Amino acid sequence: MLRSDFTALFGQTPEIVTEAPGRVNLIGEHVDYCDGFVMPFAINDRTYAAISKRRDRNIRIASKQRTGEIFETSLDQLAPDGKGDWERYILGVIWAFGGQVTSGLDILVDGGVALGAGLSSSAALECSIATALNKLFDVNLSLPELARLAQRAENGYVGVPCGIMDQSVSLMAQAGNALLLDCRDLSTEQIPLDLASAGLELMIIDTRAHHALVDGGYAERRASCESAAKKLGIKALRDCSVSELESSRSKLTELEYMRAEHVVNDIERVHQTVEFLKKNDFVSVGKILTQSHASLRDRFEISCAELDLAVDTALANKSLGGRMIGGGFGGSAIALFKVADIEPAKTAIAVAFKSAGYVEPRFFTSLPSSGAAVIN
Ligand code: GLA
Repeated sequence: MLRSDFTALFGQTPEIVTEAPGRVNLIGEHVDYCDGFVMPFAINDRTYAAISKRRDRNIRIASKQRTGEIFETSLDQLAPDGKGDWERYILGVIWAFGGQVTSGLDILVDGGVALGAGLSSSAALECSIATALNKLFDVNLSLPELARLAQRAENGYVGVPCGIMDQSVSLMAQAGNALLLDCRDLSTEQIPLDLASAGLELMIIDTRAHHALVDGGYAERRASCESAAKKLGIKALRDCSVSELESSRSKLTELEYMRAEHVVNDIERVHQTVEFLKKNDFVSVGKILTQSHASLRDRFEISCAELDLAVDTALANKSLGGRMIGGGFGGSAIALFKVADIEPAKTAIAVAFKSAGYVEPRFFTSLPSSGAAVIN
């Protein structure tokens, strides 16, 4: 379908078609930019990109979600303060390849990752493009190098100060596994995550809330973590244990201490989760998820009423544990359930949202899926 749409739109067949998934982060939130450990997995939903080189230096971009619109620019006009809206995620990736992209491009994307749900639709888009250009221009970057390139696109071109987690998992995930990622050196370990055999399912609750007033909140949290690390005399908060942090409390402001406490503890929770998963101890995994939520809510202060209601209602309806995921201030939460308890819990959450006067939430689920790939 994407191929024939591409041909109809641009009058040539695509030279390459790629796909890249969105993600759910099981545990390790707001720790990637502290060089910490995270454990996300790729979801089934993905973004597809069809691309061909052009003879000139023009770039044309279209999306199946925006019929009739073609965005046009040229390789020579790429600049971080340049034009574009969502197209900037694509332009940023082209820009990040520097002189290695040597011709113009026709690009058609088909985005299957829900927008604004905290499921990393932007990383899916960046990684589908990065995977295609890496192959099309024989750049041969490794997956960690591609992840850094996509992050550079988002930091340097789009202007979002994100960490490295979303791009890494979109590129390096393997089906059936969560990805244990060391955000300092990007080394990985695939951790089997077989919820189905245990009769469990991970519910993804998109609250559909987005609190735009706190858009600067992510950068502000990041800055607090960096200033805390500086005052502690370490490269990043990853280099600090829970007890070291406690004994250095007087060096930090109360706010920096709260932020750092979340980070240091959440990194510890990642290691604990790995051990529990290896023992198939999902009851303990559930408890850790809930502890992480409390820390994100009370110490990192990035939850919101809708996320808290989703998690609290899940817990009151037999969930083994749950938490908000992603950047915060809206987006999605996850909650672990026995399969038989899923439907009544969905109803309870929907009713709770209605009573509170919130927009109706959306429910997803996903098995751990594979990372970005060239389709043909
Ligand atoms: C967003 C960012 C990631 C990460 C998470 C929080 O998804 O893109 O780099 O920092 O928030 O864990």
